[in-house]
Amino acid sequence: MSTPFWIAGKPVTSVETATVYHSYDGSEAGVHSVPSASDVETALQAAHDARAETAALPAHTRAAALDHISRTLAERAEEFARLITAESAKPITWARAEVGRAVSTFRWAAEEARRFSGELQRLDTDPGATGRIALVRRVPRGPVLGITPFNFPLNLVAHKVAPALAVGAPIVLKPAPATPLTALALGELLAETDLPAGSWSVLPVGNDVAAELVTDPRLPIVSFTGSVPVGWRIRDAVPRKHVALELGGNAATVVCPDWSDLDFAAKRIATFAMYQAGQSCIAVQRVYAHADVFDDLAERVVQQVGTLGTGDPRSPHTQVGPLIDVAAAERVESWVDEAIAAGAQRRLGGRRDGATVEPTVLTDVPEDASVMADEVFGPVVCVNPVDSVDDAFRLVNDSRFGLQTGVFTRDLPTAFQASATLDVGGVVVGDVPSFRADQMPYGGVKDSGVGREGPAAAMADFTEERVTVLTGLQL
Ligand code: SIN
Repeated sequence: MSTPFWIAGKPVTSVETATVYHSYDGSEAGVHSVPSASDVETALQAAHDARAETAALPAHTRAAALDHISRTLAERAEEFARLITAESAKPITWARAEVGRAVSTFRWAAEEARRFSGELQRLDTDPGATGRIALVRRVPRGPVLGITPFNFPLNLVAHKVAPALAVGAPIVLKPAPATPLTALALGELLAETDLPAGSWSVLPVGNDVAAELVTDPRLPIVSFTGSVPVGWRIRDAVPRKHVALELGGNAATVVCPDWSDLDFAAKRIATFAMYQAGQSCIAVQRVYAHADVFDDLAERVVQQVGTLGTGDPRSPHTQVGPLIDVAAAERVESWVDEAIAAGAQRRLGGRRDGATVEPTVLTDVPEDASVMADEVFGPVVCVNPVDSVDDAFRLVNDSRFGLQTGVFTRDLPTAFQASATLDVGGVVVGDVPSFRADQMPYGGVKDSGVGREGPAAAMADFTEERVTVLTGLQL
């Protein structure tokens, strides 16, 4: 019996199936039905047909549905966490954290749905508009195509589904082929709500089908999280659509000379360079440590990374598991080898066994090595010395990416300088760039993408302003 996919709120099984495997030991994580071309067509037409009904839903209905999903997700948290671990090989500790975050994402979307109100704008600022006022409301742009990656099979799905439902936009979700099971399980919770059937579908189709979905005019919004080349190809393919891209990063952390608690900085850097085996767009990748603290910090990072438990992601003692597949691990290994050949010092790790790459610390890494300049998406951290904070900020900006940066400082002017001058979507002062609260606007500049996620930001993105001018009023 295969896990069904969801078309217009209904579970559907098919003859064609796909099997999802665990990358740690190759065990079977699950088998799901695969939609046919006609299933896809039914889902798209249903989203198109549902758009007026969905847009007209009262706020209490949308909020109640989102609250239901948040609550039932919390009730079934352990089951979801185990499913995330089974299909993505994410260590169970991090899978539990992800479920907790998704509970919050849906809860926040429910709260935002209740207060999403628009505004009144005075027009009587000139004599010709005396007695007039504008009602500025935000209305859904139309059905959303959400395309999600493997590294957060639940919470990055939540970041597409929750804001769409919150504004009353139908959504067609295409989860990552490597990790569709969690999104399909989420469908069970969606199906328990009072949302109109056509307002959501979950289609575990291959990436080859994604191109057709992207260009289909019935889906005027594309919200994509994934790789840089695919993201920009999508935007180039549909310049008239509203496209939001959350792409990669090579997250930098700056350790300033005033930061005295190097143990804390090293612990945070080690943990968040290696969490999910580095498979997060904001996993720490580049560390710029002021020369005054560099030796001490590098030593402590090596020591902290060495304490992280590796192995079976199902064990609560494992902090660093395998990558999503062997090909990804081979690429990471080759990038580490390339950096060492170019002069980087290998301080820890660097070897690969199947899909697992040892937690790796490199120092004195050339800026143009792939492990610095591109997105590693693996358990590798590079620590380099800098002579000044200005130099560090220049190097942070000298990158094609700009997602989030961490700055360890307690100096207020330095914190403001970081906020004002770093060319990124988010600056985290006093911590690593990996910090994300799910209500925050989240996204990047340059090759890191366009648009922002976070329920309120995505709700603004999925809607457009509609002005209604009221006349003949006594104001
Ligand atoms: C991402 O990999 O972009 C998501 C990071 C997060 O949500 O923590």
